[in-house]
Amino acid sequence: MKCLVTGAAGFIGSHLCERLLQSGHAVAGIDAFIPYYPRAVKEANLAGPRNHPDFTLFTSDLRDSDLAPALDGVEAVFHLAAMPGLPRSWTDFALYEGCNVAATQRLLEAARQTPTLRRFVYASTSSVYGRYGSGDETLPTRPSSPYGVTKLAAEHLCRAYAEEHGLPVVVLRYFSVYGPRQRPDMGYHKFIHALLHGDEIAVFGDGLQTRGNTYIDDCTAATMAALEAPVGEVYNVGGGETASVWDILGKLETILGRRAVVRREPARAGDQRFTAADAGKLTRHLGWTPAVGLDDGLARQAAWQQAQQGRRLAA
Ligand SMILES: NC(=O)c1ccc[n+]([C@@H]2O[C@H](COP(=O)([O-])OP(=O)(O)OC[C@H]3O[C@@H](n4cnc5c(N)ncnc54)[C@H](O)[C@@H]3O)[C@@H](O)[C@H]2O)c1
Repeated sequence: MKCLVTGAAGFIGSHLCERLLQSGHAVAGIDAFIPYYPRAVKEANLAGPRNHPDFTLFTSDLRDSDLAPALDGVEAVFHLAAMPGLPRSWTDFALYEGCNVAATQRLLEAARQTPTLRRFVYASTSSVYGRYGSGDETLPTRPSSPYGVTKLAAEHLCRAYAEEHGLPVVVLRYFSVYGPRQRPDMGYHKFIHALLHGDEIAVFGDGLQTRGNTYIDDCTAATMAALEAPVGEVYNVGGGETASVWDILGKLETILGRRAVVRREPARAGDQRFTAADAGKLTRHLGWTPAVGLDDGLARQAAWQQAQQGRRLAA
């Protein structure tokens, strides 16, 4: 099957491209290399797919490029491109609005003119639930950050295109994804980096904020499973294990054999207090269950960051 992955050079997108290629699919990737974190990191993410004969990269911006060439003959779209990260969405709203809302509308418009299309999978987030994202998909959506608002707006756009134009949409709400290649602005990446370098770690608020965590391989498995999902459904994607900031720091101290040097900071506006995915619907409909536990997953991410650091020192 020919698939299109938007945000192909990102953390989750690059893993998804690899997995689709491994499963025998042909993959077109779109990425604009938005400099939210360095292009070199994203280029490295794509090292595997770029060498694969069935992979084509379109360095295109969903906000203004002609999307027809990338969609030609595509049967499944996985729309992962977005401006992620909650704190910056308060200060750079135009970028979030453009990359998360306007870009999605342009992609949906191009997708509905693609006769081969069988599924359009939209990567949403637990942030659509707001401060207390704990439960199943019937929880009220009350985002507490501009980021969450733009991601929810894009969900609504997907629904409008599904209802009015028959687009075969499936929405996935990812809960805190981690593992090798995690974005450098994300908490666990920053914690591991600080532990490896002996730097201070900023803990915001009381540190008791808790996350449902999803290992990257479980996330990509769920995303591929969505190809078989009934059209119009929304699914939580969560690894089933929750942990507070203190829990995570304790686990990472054990894994790396180093003590964290903590600096306390005030809580950040819009931060979620508690997230825990009830992903039972995904299990019931598609048989998906998470396979990687938190200790194992954190150890894998720490090993990857250590290897990255080793390569930088050797260079
Ligand atoms: N990482 C998580 O824990 C998490 C949790 C919930 C939801 N999500 C969602 O999953 C998706 C992927 O997240 P990620 O962590 O891999 O982020 P990422 O920043 O690593 O990847 C996103 C990619 O999209 C690209 N992009 C952004 N705007 C674009 C545009 N206008 N045109 C073309 N490319 C564009 C960026 O250059 C980037 O490479 C996002 O939609 C995000 O909202 C992620």
